[in-house]
Amino acid sequence: MKFFIDTANLSDIEEAQALGVLDGVTTNPSLMAKEGITGETNILAHYKKICNIVEGDVSAEVISTDFEGMVKEGEALAALHPQIVVKLPMIAAGVKACKYFSDKGIRTNVTLVFSVGQALLAAKAGATYVSPFIGRLDDISTDGLNLIAEIRQVYDNYAFDTQILAASVRHTMHVIDCAKIGSDVMTGPLSSITGLLKHPLTDSGLAKFLEDYKKGN
Ligand code: G3P
Repeated sequence: MKFFIDTANLSDIEEAQALGVLDGVTTNPSLMAKEGITGETNILAHYKKICNIVEGDVSAEVISTDFEGMVKEGEALAALHPQIVVKLPMIAAGVKACKYFSDKGIRTNVTLVFSVGQALLAAKAGATYVSPFIGRLDDISTDGLNLIAEIRQVYDNYAFDTQILAASVRHTMHVIDCAKIGSDVMTGPLSSITGLLKHPLTDSGLAKFLEDYKKGN
């Protein structure tokens, strides 16, 4: 399973990259705003900075809601850097733009997906990635992980190439459960990755090894 980090925070991206397990980055307008990155020029410059830190795919989201606007914005984003993946919302214009970009060989990530039907549409339109938001489903007492499992089944039934990118991952158990289900990718905060390191037996075991080493020296 690929590990993406879901942030526009450069130091979190650097930390995950330094760990050696990072496969890419996802961003969205809210995450950009959280870092105080506003205005087209600053946002585009920030995407370039992110691409220079990581080696993998970097999702950059369009803000247009009409087909023509999405095409114009998406083409500019794709031209910015070879690692950029054009992120499109799951609305009719987004599906149409997804098909347009996939026909041109430009990679896409269809976002704000909350149902199997939406994921099926994204795959039919040739999306590179589909982003079901599992945390936000959990927030409204709906099983987000079950959606990942259902999409996995449908995609496997027809050997769709679209990769399932479990998004709105909030914690380590989401990561582990996504891996069990067979999600192709997960994207979450830095804590959802570094949290996987933690085990008290690792810490106490290491402390004992170091203590015993000192005894013999
Ligand atoms: O990847 C989607 C993500 O940015 C949304 O996460 O935690 O705001 O639901 P969250």
